[in-house]
Amino acid sequence: MRRKLAAGNWKMNGTGASLSEVEALIAAHPDPKVDVLLCPPATLLERMSRLANGSAIATGGQDCHAAESGAHTGDISAPMLADAGASHVIVGHSERRDDHGETDAMVRAKAEAAHRAGLVAVICCGESLAEREGGLTLDIIGGQLAGSLPDGATGANTVVAYEPIWAIGTGKIPTTGQIGEVHDFIRAELVKRFGAEGEAIRVLYGGSVKPSNAAEIFAVANVDGALVGGASLKAADFSPIIAALEEA
Ligand code: PGA
Repeated sequence: MRRKLAAGNWKMNGTGASLSEVEALIAAHPDPKVDVLLCPPATLLERMSRLANGSAIATGGQDCHAAESGAHTGDISAPMLADAGASHVIVGHSERRDDHGETDAMVRAKAEAAHRAGLVAVICCGESLAEREGGLTLDIIGGQLAGSLPDGATGANTVVAYEPIWAIGTGKIPTTGQIGEVHDFIRAELVKRFGAEGEAIRVLYGGSVKPSNAAEIFAVANVDGALVGGASLKAADFSPIIAALEEA
């Protein structure tokens, strides 16, 4: 059985003062029945990792460069994230794809770099509103999976996050039927390509997950957890999402 995962993506939010939220989460979830991951901005990663050391909360980066080192001003490599205490890294988030022109090939190279550094790659995919309305959702997701996942993906080193772009930060979420359709499709694609490992790769839903809708989303087949943005910033919001996943 796949162990469920509640992952938080702080995006470009948080300073040292925000670590009190992590302290509160650790206190509230000393022994969670699900995996819990927080991906803070790079400036907080080492501090958060030290704080969470010995707790059930894992830490991760939000992006990595495909190379291990070199002349890439402003970038951070996968080994650097691991050195700062990360066990995971998000790659291919739609904000990276949009803001930085990241292609499937670049995302795949980043995921391969993550694997070389011993990190779990949380690989994101998702359709735009125009693609959804044009009936292209499964084509887009299929293409992103084929292009962004490395051949060496396993249940241990890879997590897939399905995040419809139009649901991110908007408060709009797909119906549970729409979520289920995409998650079933992703599972089938993973099994087709990776065999038994495709059954072991966790598939998260992301986009406007909140305490009020979490239980309904987690009841959908093939939803193995969530990638949560805004509602992961405060322990008071993220904690009930973790609890809902434990009960799912
Ligand atoms: P949101 O972001 O929960 O704020 O919609 C989700 C994400 O982008 O991972």
